[in-house]
Amino acid sequence: MTNLATSYMGLKLKNPIIAASSGLTNSLENIKAIETNGAAAVVLKSLFEEEIIMEAQDNMNKMQSSGFIYPETIEYFDFDEMEDPVANYLKLITDAKKAVSIPIIASVNCVTADKWPDFAKRIQDAGADAIELNIFALPSDFSRSAEENEKLYFDIITQVTSMVKIPVGVKISPYNASLGSFIKRLSETPIKSIVLFNRFYNPDFDINTLEYTGGSVFSSAGDFAMPLRWVAIMAERVSCDLAASTGVHDGNAVVKSLLAGATVTQIASTLYRNGFEQIALMLKQVEDWMTEMGYKSIDEFKGKMSQAKSYDPAAFERVQFMKHFKDLKR
Ligand SMILES: Cc1cc2nc3c(=O)[nH]c(=O)nc-3n(C[C@H](O)[C@H](O)[C@H](O)COP(=O)(O)O)c2cc1C
Repeated sequence: MTNLATSYMGLKLKNPIIAASSGLTNSLENIKAIETNGAAAVVLKSLFEEEIIMEAQDNMNKMQSSGFIYPETIEYFDFDEMEDPVANYLKLITDAKKAVSIPIIASVNCVTADKWPDFAKRIQDAGADAIELNIFALPSDFSRSAEENEKLYFDIITQVTSMVKIPVGVKISPYNASLGSFIKRLSETPIKSIVLFNRFYNPDFDINTLEYTGGSVFSSAGDFAMPLRWVAIMAERVSCDLAASTGVHDGNAVVKSLLAGATVTQIASTLYRNGFEQIALMLKQVEDWMTEMGYKSIDEFKGKMSQAKSYDPAAFERVQFMKHFKDLKR
């Protein structure tokens, strides 16, 4: 009786849980297991631009010295260099399309708008249902202005959307200036979705040995506060779907994402920590909550707690912070 179906980027999904791009979505075996456990779609591990592959070590050094590294980059460098990553990637798309019936979303990690967009067409020809652009504008690059970083997104979107017919989405980091305006303007391009947010891996160090240590590659449930806030602020104000990602670890976080106005959630860390069975568990939690609240479909409550629809818009604004901190007694 409870219907979890939704539509994302124009694709029909049986529910709002998508396996996010990660090392877990890089093999046919895992993709099948992800479908078996109930996920509505899979975003494949990102394919990196060729020049990043060729200049891997060089870039790694630059990224380390600038203090921020994406988790996927760390993982990527753990692998031996693949002989032909592009061919392997296209084959995975074709094989996955034959093996499962859920949509397969390809992902490209890109830093330029000129070298790689032909890949997008080959990804489409291989059978991918959609493409997610994981745009890699390093906020700690002191030589680039906010305008230059923004322009990169719009240039890549223009190139890719002119080359393919399948839906294109963009996954962004929260490190963009004037985030609300940026997200709104992105949504007014031909893209069909924005994923809020990709996650940075933050290095750490040991205060006794003074050695650099790896911070956690995985999110914690507390990290969900930021995507929740931004989904709630941007829902009803954007012209495309929003996906909530980072810190979505259980069914409650899925429900909150939907109430805030997201169309779907994308999950990775909780799958690493708890296995693919976590998907089924989270779906059950969402279904139980809907039953308890008397909702039969997602449309009945999606966006109900977004800022635009809120009975208390100040809950998302400065006045709330002021009140909160004023009330705190030591
Ligand atoms: C080990 C690992 C590898 C990842 N690889 C990619 C990747 O290749 N492309 C990408 O867009 N995101 C990648 N991500 C980010 C996830 O897709 C996701 O957006 C992020 O981890 C936040 O979701 P979570 O809190 O559920 O982990 C990776 C995350 C992890 C933990």
